[in-house]
Amino acid sequence: MRTVLIAALSLAAAAPLRAEMPPKPARLGLCAACHGEHGMAQIPGAPNLAGQRLDYLREALKQYRDGRRNVALMKAAIGPISDAELDELARWYSAQTPVAPRP
Ligand code: HEC
Repeated sequence: MRTVLIAALSLAAAAPLRAEMPPKPARLGLCAACHGEHGMAQIPGAPNLAGQRLDYLREALKQYRDGRRNVALMKAAIGPISDAELDELARWYSAQTPVAPRP
């Protein structure tokens, strides 16, 4: 009986987490080359994005797109992206769990 209750409670706790995971953005492939599919950087000099605040990521991407952040690499990577696509990417990376670096 107690096992059943614990199982039910853990299911209830896990369900909202899964529901919150946003769909994988269509443009994620290119970003993943540098930032990793789950937001842990793959190359030196690229920042980790996993778990970063959604509002911050959204604003950063807009700044690269509009040239307010003048970084040729990121401006080229992001290209002429729509607000909806930009939002998808920000939601994806914000929802990822950062992985602790290996000692
Ligand atoms: C060729 C490697 C490369 C690719 C591809 C790339 N990035 Fe970046 N990204 C970088 C680097 C390097 C920076 C740091 C730039 C700077 O100094 O502002 C950065 C910065 C960022 C930041 C700002 C992080 C912060 O903490 O301010 C975001 C958000 C981001 N990238 C998202 C993306 C997304 C989304 C894509 C795909 C559309 C993408 N990047 C593609 C290398 C890359």
